[in-house]
Amino acid sequence: MCSIIGYLGLSSAAPIIVKGLKRMEYRGYDSVGVATFSEHQISVRKGVGKVLEVNKTEKLDELSGTIGIGHTRWATHGMVTDTNAHPHPSSSGEIAIVHNGIIENHEELKKELQKHGYTFKSQTDSEVIANLLQYNYDKTREIKKSVVDTVAELKGNYAFVAVFQDGTLSAARLHEPLIIGVGKEGYFISSDVLGFVEYTDEVIYPDNKEFVIIDKEGLKIFDFDANPVRHQITKVSKEFADVYKGQYAHYTLKEISEQPLTVSSAGNNTKLEIDLASDLIKHARNVYITGSGTSYNAALIAKFLFSKYAKIKIDPLISSEAQFSPDMFEEKSILVAISQSGESADVLEAVGIAKKTGSKIISIVNMMTSSLVHQSSISMGLNCGPEIGVAATKSFTSQLVVLYKIIDKICDGCMELDLTKVSEAIKKILSNDSKIKDVAKRLKNVSDIYVLGRGMHYPIASEGSLKLKELTYIHAEGLPGGELKHGPLALMDSNSYVLIINPNDSTYNDTLTSAREIKARGAKIIGISDKPSDVYDHWIDIPSINEPLYPLVEIVPIQLLAYYAAIDKDFDPDYPRNLAKSVTVK
Ligand code: F6R
Repeated sequence: MCSIIGYLGLSSAAPIIVKGLKRMEYRGYDSVGVATFSEHQISVRKGVGKVLEVNKTEKLDELSGTIGIGHTRWATHGMVTDTNAHPHPSSSGEIAIVHNGIIENHEELKKELQKHGYTFKSQTDSEVIANLLQYNYDKTREIKKSVVDTVAELKGNYAFVAVFQDGTLSAARLHEPLIIGVGKEGYFISSDVLGFVEYTDEVIYPDNKEFVIIDKEGLKIFDFDANPVRHQITKVSKEFADVYKGQYAHYTLKEISEQPLTVSSAGNNTKLEIDLASDLIKHARNVYITGSGTSYNAALIAKFLFSKYAKIKIDPLISSEAQFSPDMFEEKSILVAISQSGESADVLEAVGIAKKTGSKIISIVNMMTSSLVHQSSISMGLNCGPEIGVAATKSFTSQLVVLYKIIDKICDGCMELDLTKVSEAIKKILSNDSKIKDVAKRLKNVSDIYVLGRGMHYPIASEGSLKLKELTYIHAEGLPGGELKHGPLALMDSNSYVLIINPNDSTYNDTLTSAREIKARGAKIIGISDKPSDVYDHWIDIPSINEPLYPLVEIVPIQLLAYYAAIDKDFDPDYPRNLAKSVTVK
């Protein structure tokens, strides 16, 4: 999703901005741009492509000046073109802005501004911010007043940074992330700590409906009614600076490979919170659980395990569906919200709806500095380090471990949660991946893959199919084994590939029966199991483990399969097309 950045300090701004944008690439984008202020003028350079590609042609980092703004765009309004890339200057060029989010009333505002003679070049909703600021600034020539008047008129969700022609920076936020870095030699404004963490770990988190003004006199923060606001400076963890690939070809492979460690450390930084959350859930009248994408798949496994082991019924809800079932939340319930980024707009919306009913929010989050944490009564950390690959891998297994710890606490250790064994099992899969690489090669020209599982392995089938879709662009579908004969069997023929998740547990025999039904229709079967069978055309061996822990282990070969199949097809597994890591728009 779009990333915004701003810098005002003693050093040359453009190289700092380009580096910050590179660091935030993982969030997903299609074009990039930088504007700097120098010698009473704002200069803009931008284009379609990756940060380093555009930098090569447009020489973004050679723009002069010690004040500037930058942006990576993920198109929402208007095609992916150079003109639609940010920054957008106002029609007089006295102000330029970068924006993350959506301005809902941009069409009305644009018409109104055009009547006053302001002109537009792009098809974006964002350009309206530049001209609206300019319109309000032209009335009084006061920056603070122009920002107050502008935010009063904008509808939607946004974070923007504006550079004015006197070298002042101003940034405002409404339901989109915005973080201020306070360095020894300058100020940073960014959507993400990664935008500046190598320069400072001292940060300020402006709240919703607040804006900042940064000029040579320093930093001032105000609410949208122009009242001054005070915020404490907090320190972020230096671990966020550790975002290099090291020996690995891709972040995705690095993150898959980190799982023996991350399953052991999940939740270790928030042990007390896990105890408190377990207690709240145990005594709650109603418990709901929500998330998007991978995080929702973790929620589905949790539903299964909570009822089986903790004897607690919890209702899962896809976050983006919450707005259509606002009456679902009973008064004073518990909502467990799961999110790697803690910034998914859909998850935050579900949380907002639940809070209106007086419900308490318990969150399971990787980015402990995120909006979701700020909105929760209790937050538990994944503690798995930054996840840069757009497809969630290590964060998924860490989410599961935190959920397992809560359930295990409630059922007094009934899950026999031996994470050392899980870690050993994952290590074994990682060190013995030749079969997976071989199977990945066979998927090169395949158009459809089905992933089958029963019981708690069905959400893993969904998660596995999500990884295959995202990384290989092959149509993939997760199916509950028993549903085959109710429809999907019609699709099976000799061109189909079916991944069967079949650990040697209580689902084993029924799943094997499903595999035989598919085999009889000529489809190719890839078995993921600790037990061989003649029904599998290809067998990917996984270590045996205590029954409830299989999901933590069986997802790993599917993550690897998706990764290697993407490599064979020459796709970039870290940045799948059209996707963003942090989906901050609805
Ligand atoms: C899948 C994936 C997405 C995210 C989803 C939620 O690999 O990465 O489906 O899981 O966008 O993101 P978070 O967990 O940050 O709320």
